[in-house]
Amino acid sequence: MEVVIVDGPDEAGILVGGAVAALVDATPTAVLGLATGSSPVVVYRDLARRHVAGDLSLARVQAFLLDEYVGLPPDHPQSYRSFIARELEARVDLADAAVQAPDIQSDDLVAACAAYEREIAAAGGVDLQLLGIGTDGHIGFNEPGSSLASRTRIKTLTDQTRRDNARFFASLDEVPRHVVTQGVGTILEARHLVLLAFGAAKAAAVAAAVEGPVTAMVPGSALQLHPHATVVVDEPAAAGLHLAGYYRETWAHKPSWQGL
Ligand code: F6R
Repeated sequence: MEVVIVDGPDEAGILVGGAVAALVDATPTAVLGLATGSSPVVVYRDLARRHVAGDLSLARVQAFLLDEYVGLPPDHPQSYRSFIARELEARVDLADAAVQAPDIQSDDLVAACAAYEREIAAAGGVDLQLLGIGTDGHIGFNEPGSSLASRTRIKTLTDQTRRDNARFFASLDEVPRHVVTQGVGTILEARHLVLLAFGAAKAAAVAAAVEGPVTAMVPGSALQLHPHATVVVDEPAAAGLHLAGYYRETWAHKPSWQGL
């Protein structure tokens, strides 16, 4: 696992946006895994800047959402499908039809989850998966206790996650209890995982995921099992990392040809 400690979210956006741009440059038909929430927004802004500058086209890219709330209409402003349409599709040349999400309107959610897994496989798998991390250590919406082998399925949000996400809704009561999320096992099949975390509220979860034991109680710790995982954090989110000095030293002396 590579840990990069940056000065702030904007620097992270440029760094990770650069990795996405390099991937798409090499493979214009790349498959991206998209996270929502506040952490990846700086990456989407950076991709938009590159697109406006004429340096990036996502016209041939396919994308898969990491998760989606159950119970919100698709056009609800806080549905993750709406979020991606607003934060990314509206700013770049990524076609709406190229972005897939779990079909949470289906009458048969179990079948819809299985179909989503098949769609990801049919696309050849995800090349680069963007991730955030919850204050309780979740990735996607795999809450503590999620099997490290789990696949796309319905999950119940913890109270902590619902409270954290209440800032996006008019009240706590409006935050859905259920979600469909790619499983930890699904996420681990992406070829490159890039997790972003900013702010002191994430410090404990980042430390547990990066330096703690691999455990279903901290789903983010599954990144330790992945051969190509990159964790990009700002100083407050890095505050609990024992090896922070080593990560800084490694990054400062990284051969320039290596990339992320
Ligand atoms: C979102 C997702 C979640 C968030 C996490 C952090 O698609 O899967 O795991 O990444 O809850 O959210 P923010 O970035 O809003 O702090």
